[in-house]
Amino acid sequence: MNKPKYLYDRKGPWPQPSPSHPFGEAPAVVHIPKDEQRTWFWNIGFRYIRNVLFYWPKAMLKAWQNPSWEILDDEVFCDQIYTTPLAKFLNATIDEPLQKIFAEQLKDKSEGDEYYVADFSCMKNVIPFKGLYVASTVALMSKPKDENRLRLHGIYIFETQLLVLPGDGDAWSLAKNFAMMGATYRILLSTHPILHFPFDTINAITKTALPVDNTVFKILYPHFQFTLTLNDSVLESKSSPVYNDQKYPFTGFCGPQDGLLTLLESGYVGIEGNSSYPKFVWDIEPTPINSDYNIFLKQYYDAFLRFTKEVVKHIPAQEKPEIKIWADYIAQWLPGFPSGEKIMEGDMLAGCLAKVMWDLSVAHATDHHSYGTIPINRLPLRMRVPPPATRKDTFKAKDQAKFIDIFKYALEWKLFFNDHTVTRLIDVDYKFATPELQKLQANFLQDLELVDLHMPVKKYMELKNISISIQF
Ligand SMILES: [Fe+2]
Repeated sequence: MNKPKYLYDRKGPWPQPSPSHPFGEAPAVVHIPKDEQRTWFWNIGFRYIRNVLFYWPKAMLKAWQNPSWEILDDEVFCDQIYTTPLAKFLNATIDEPLQKIFAEQLKDKSEGDEYYVADFSCMKNVIPFKGLYVASTVALMSKPKDENRLRLHGIYIFETQLLVLPGDGDAWSLAKNFAMMGATYRILLSTHPILHFPFDTINAITKTALPVDNTVFKILYPHFQFTLTLNDSVLESKSSPVYNDQKYPFTGFCGPQDGLLTLLESGYVGIEGNSSYPKFVWDIEPTPINSDYNIFLKQYYDAFLRFTKEVVKHIPAQEKPEIKIWADYIAQWLPGFPSGEKIMEGDMLAGCLAKVMWDLSVAHATDHHSYGTIPINRLPLRMRVPPPATRKDTFKAKDQAKFIDIFKYALEWKLFFNDHTVTRLIDVDYKFATPELQKLQANFLQDLELVDLHMPVKKYMELKNISISIQF
């Protein structure tokens, strides 16, 4: 029998405690093979340089045309939450402290209406630069029975201990923009990173601990393209958006790295006693979302699962001990990941594979794409007026931001938040060796096309544009 071949002779990447936040963030992979770094640079890093050099006039134009944040109608605010990945924040569990805050509003609840809180209290440890303001807020929203839209009932501002209500004039407009600022930070730095960083552990261990002929290696490997270097540069590079060094023109966040990292922490270790911020625990199912986005994502997840269930049936007996060791290694780093024994039970392996493949392609790419459809002036990144302290407070819309704030954001958006697919999911080739598995791959690609064709809700992203891996 031939000796099993490993991608990096078993000397490859491995997870370790995150250097920047060892107890609050997912394990990180910091020693990345040189050829992976080079491939990343030529396909992705180089684009950053190109965009910094050539996109700045467009970013300037955007800032010049609209140098402040938009005042959001209630309808725009609700639609922006409900029809984008911001819907991830709709939590139907209203914890006791929030029930007290919104006691009056909750009394008006009609039968069949669903009430949600959108909680942005993760902002409480974000420290703003001089002249800028941050507020931690929570919004009470509802979905009337038989209607596919939300209503906004009130916004509470923790710093000023003020409940602002519709009809409160300027204070209401300002509260909405501080809440939307919370939503922007929470998606970018708390919720979306959960799609990125925990999966690095699986990426590194698969490359190092599984032989390249193992079926699990083959089915996962294409979905790992570019990602280790990308994630490492987001977390560790001095020029990354999270580092937010103001000498770079694309650093639009409102404060230094220390405060911003607390947002990443709120996504991974959660916030004690707050049901909107659970601790990360591995689950083979996608986290449910209270909007059509859930249906869109689940339709794709189910297609991945149909495929992986069939593939798992074809895994030869001699590969199974390798898979058990692989799972045991991952379980040491990723809370809740099944051990080698457990992963072979029922559909657990198929579920784990589907979750990884779906997360790194559809779930990740669509988050970026759909976020990118929201006009940037509706997603405040820096506020230059303080949050309301009374319901009679007033402010001028133009004082909310300066030209530089919008310019930096527009450039950062282009570099890091917008989607730039390099390699597409629909072109995936798992390089299976047997005709049975090759047939399953062909069926899977057809299945994805059918999901796209018959999507029963809004197409948050076209299949043809979805990337195969995390590459932006
Ligand atoms: Fe991302």
